[in-house]
Amino acid sequence: MQWWRDAVVYQVYVRSFADSDGDGVGDLAGVRSRLGYLELLGVDALWLTPFYRSPMADHGYDVADPRDVDPVFGDLAAFDALVEDAHRHGLKIIVDLVPNHTSTEHEWFRAALDSAPGSPERARYHFRPGKGENGDEPPNNWRSIFGGPAWERVGEEEWYLHLFAPEQADLNWTNPEVWADLEKTLRFWADRGVDGFRIDVAHGMAKPDGLPDDPQARIELLANTDGDPRFDQDGVHDVHRMVRAVLDHYPGRMAVGEIWVRDDERFARYVRPDELHQGFNFRLLQTPFEAAAIRDAVEHSIAAVDAVGSRPTWTLSNHDISRPVTRYGGGEVGLARARAMALVVLALPGSAYIYNGEELGMPDVEVPDDALQDPVWERSGHTERGRDSCRIPVPWEGSAPAYGFSTGEPWLPMPPDWDALTAAEQLEDTGSTLSMFRHALELRHTHPGFAATDDRRTRVEWYGAPPGCLAFRRSGTTLACALNTSDAPVPLPPGDVLVTSGPLTEDGQLPPDTAAWLA
Ligand code: NOJ
Repeated sequence: MQWWRDAVVYQVYVRSFADSDGDGVGDLAGVRSRLGYLELLGVDALWLTPFYRSPMADHGYDVADPRDVDPVFGDLAAFDALVEDAHRHGLKIIVDLVPNHTSTEHEWFRAALDSAPGSPERARYHFRPGKGENGDEPPNNWRSIFGGPAWERVGEEEWYLHLFAPEQADLNWTNPEVWADLEKTLRFWADRGVDGFRIDVAHGMAKPDGLPDDPQARIELLANTDGDPRFDQDGVHDVHRMVRAVLDHYPGRMAVGEIWVRDDERFARYVRPDELHQGFNFRLLQTPFEAAAIRDAVEHSIAAVDAVGSRPTWTLSNHDISRPVTRYGGGEVGLARARAMALVVLALPGSAYIYNGEELGMPDVEVPDDALQDPVWERSGHTERGRDSCRIPVPWEGSAPAYGFSTGEPWLPMPPDWDALTAAEQLEDTGSTLSMFRHALELRHTHPGFAATDDRRTRVEWYGAPPGCLAFRRSGTTLACALNTSDAPVPLPPGDVLVTSGPLTEDGQLPPDTAAWLA
């Protein structure tokens, strides 16, 4: 069963979702305690960010043992209990795999440090002698995504490659042991009953022969990877074919890749029939709140996957980027736009990914310097604040921090004025962002416009719309969505209004910063 083709997946940033033991950090038992809420919300699946053994230099994306649970998040028994309960609530579970790199606390990396240059232990990573007379210059000019050189020197003789933090050493994907280990990890979690895998940096892993300099010495991950020797190398597709071959032995399991590749044709390669089932296309999330640009991003995202017979995925936020409310302008305008965009995304064909707190309209939070946790802050020499502001724990109930998230002090500070933002408050208010999400998700399950998954419904048909507006229909159905990004109210397309992201005008027009579904 290809359940993922139209699924709404809820991203649980485990650290920030719900804390069951009062240490201020969310955990697996905390997620389990909130499954009732997620069922009520109406999502189909959960993506759990890494909960594996980790020194937490990058909050779990530095994995020391990919087949065990870090004590801060629980243990394997807690994981099994979560999977079982989630399935009982009708929710699938997707876990996050990090195959591009390991923690420098991984037993392989420790063994590499204890071994000589040229040893099989070092051959699982990218160790190279330095340049310059004394070898004290990095082997090439690559930059780390988190700032600074992508190389760290160990001893007199060699440097190792880390595209992210120095605590995250890049694996050598020309080494068969590295392949075998990922296969083992896939089977380990698939055998424990998970329904899918999110593949971290799915456009990474393969490195070009000889590790040539980057002519542009780029830093960013979120930019175009065109010609960037660090990413989107052709060899990576063999890795995804292996992943697919393993998962094909487990009916109903899927893999979704994190793919920061903007070119449609190159993006499409990742979701060919023998590679990943889905890929995150980040175009829409990089698009301003402007109808023409939004339409362009939607068309590109659909065209990319349509070409290879795959289905689009949509996402407006995750734990790496500024939240939509803030990105679209902040305050009431930002919230109105974020709500409108949520309706656009949930009306599009394919699957949608919601990041925890998005359904509450959480904004970014300015975190004081001394509370910042993201490695980006230190690595950038305190010039980049990093991603903490979009990782604030979820407010559940009550009128003061930690709003039911934890009985202890939350790992990131929560604002004192969030009582109206809590899930408990919003469940009571029919006009809340949470109520809008619940209504839209219910319609996704019950309205015939969402019923079928045949391929015609990968597409949308565009209506003519006033300047600054867009309107589309899901192909083969009567379900339409209209969005107004202009600064004046506009008439709605014909049809019965099913749900709106905010109130219509008195004479029934669609106001600025608002979207509506019609049938
Ligand atoms: C992408 C993840 O989403 C991000 O949080 C992490 O820092 C990098 N990959 C490195 O694993």
